[in-house]
Amino acid sequence: APDIPVEKVQGHLSELQKIAEANGGHRAHGSEGYKASIDYIKKELDAAGFTTKVEEFDGQGAKGYNLVADWKGGDEAKTVMAGAHLDSVEEGPGINDNGSGSATLLQTALAVSEGKYEPGKHLRFAWWGGEELGLLGSSAYVKGLSDDEKSKISGYLNFDMTGSPNPGYFVYDSAKEPEGSKAIQDSLTASLKEGKVEAEPQDINGRSDHAAFSEAGIANGGIFSGAEETKSQEQADKWGGKAGEAFDPCYHSTCDTTENIDEKALNTNADAIAKSVWELSK
Ligand code: PHE
Ligand code: ZN
Ligand code: ZN
Ligand code: ZN
Repeated sequence: APDIPVEKVQGHLSELQKIAEANGGHRAHGSEGYKASIDYIKKELDAAGFTTKVEEFDGQGAKGYNLVADWKGGDEAKTVMAGAHLDSVEEGPGINDNGSGSATLLQTALAVSEGKYEPGKHLRFAWWGGEELGLLGSSAYVKGLSDDEKSKISGYLNFDMTGSPNPGYFVYDSAKEPEGSKAIQDSLTASLKEGKVEAEPQDINGRSDHAAFSEAGIANGGIFSGAEETKSQEQADKWGGKAGEAFDPCYHSTCDTTENIDEKALNTNADAIAKSVWELSK
């Protein structure tokens, strides 16, 4: 797998920040800022040779949009999907939540194209709308799949917050999850370990877009750098940063800007995500 250049990821975050600034300070579901975010990601993917589709859904009185991008080739009966929500809350620009996961996923997809990667399994990337209103976009997507289509997704990887300013390194791990999830989670943990980070398993059941996939019986996992919860002393000893403070003090606030990103966490997570996407799709 390639090393993902963190400055490219940060470049995408700057674009998302500008989009928010030009559209009332946010990129929330139903707003111009959300649509402009979709347009930005789509343009990058189209130029890189992806087949992209904008899928509409009904989102509590406003039109919602998911962006789905397929990379040509690979066994479609064993499709590997990776996704991130692209909407912010109305309180701020949503750069860590979830510009970080969105930009990292975009740069991972661009690396697939740059490296002319020919995976054995088919690769599909998705950017979800309406996550902040209750996982609307990802739920609509999974609801729209036939049983046959569901059975062709061998795994789903989710990235929601990967550059928290006082970062934690968590890999999803829930008590009740579809078969195959452990292999995905183990891959993410091992990829982080190569980046010299000891991740902790965390049960974040239902708090992000992997939930609909989980309910549909699709193996899944993800990386998370922490939101409003407090970092413990033990975690600070292991990961650095400040004990007794939130992983992301700007969670769902105006100050969730490009200033609200830990570059090292963003870089470490990006490299680990690319590594596992390659590993799981080879
Ligand atoms: N889904 C939450 C949000 O967007 C963030 C989150 C992600 C919380 C993963 C816990 C685990 O606000
Ligand atoms: Zn890197
Ligand atoms: Zn959020
Ligand atoms: Zn989020």
